Amino acid sequence: MATPVLDKADAAPEPGFADSPYITVTFRVRRFNPEVSAEATWEDFQLEIDPKERVLDGLHKIKWELDGSLTFRRSCAHGICGSDAMRINGKNRLACKTLIKDINPAKPITIEPIKGLTVLKDLVVDMEPFFQAYRDVMPFLITNDTNEPTRERLQSAEDRARFDDTTKCILCAACTSSCPVFWNDGQYFGPAAIVNAHRFIFDSRDEAGEQRLEILNDRDGVWRCRTTFNCTDACPRGIEVTKAIQEVKRALITRRF
Ligand code: SF4
Ligand code: FES
Repeated sequence: MATPVLDKADAAPEPGFADSPYITVTFRVRRFNPEVSAEATWEDFQLEIDPKERVLDGLHKIKWELDGSLTFRRSCAHGICGSDAMRINGKNRLACKTLIKDINPAKPITIEPIKGLTVLKDLVVDMEPFFQAYRDVMPFLITNDTNEPTRERLQSAEDRARFDDTTKCILCAACTSSCPVFWNDGQYFGPAAIVNAHRFIFDSRDEAGEQRLEILNDRDGVWRCRTTFNCTDACPRGIEVTKAIQEVKRALITRRF
């Protein structure tokens, strides 16, 4: 008797393929190359990918297997360096901290550069205005000591706790580039610079709090904040950005910090 031929669909799956985690996902990426066109365009890429992987893994797949010209920043790939903030499905996130399964892979996933900063190419923006605002608030310890101490400057646990939240900033710009005031006027210092000023204003070892407050009392300083909370929602480090801005405003009014 002839051996019945099994239809492929009835055949036992080959080992290792029975529970393939891969799905097909569309990455819809905003492309811009000033050497080719003055206009940005959307480009779709179909990827076979495990939804438990991150958006950054998908971007790597595109760059390494489909289109080497795709341009984006990343360094640590683990939420530490702050270099891969981008707008994913309309929200600022770190590509390396965003799992594909968490952002509805059944629909195309849109990926754009963060807003409010000049796009240089694809997902890369000019971060210089952002870092200039950071430098302007003097993000380093300043003391009036004439004699440098020979040992570390001590601080109580309570004093340390006052600025603990704002030490977590990784300068990713997700907050500043989600702020409508910053979109309208790039001169505004922006949430990240204020967060980093807060980190030193409320440090009991620092002696330049008044100077930093005066810098933020400027026309483009802390009073531009309209308390929209976009910054707090966007921060991948969970920093209470709006609260920090409010504390700086209060310090400006009371001159107590
Ligand atoms: S405060 Fe948060 S969102 Fe803003 S730059 Fe720092 S880590 Fe990024
Ligand atoms: S690559 Fe460093 S934070 Fe994402």
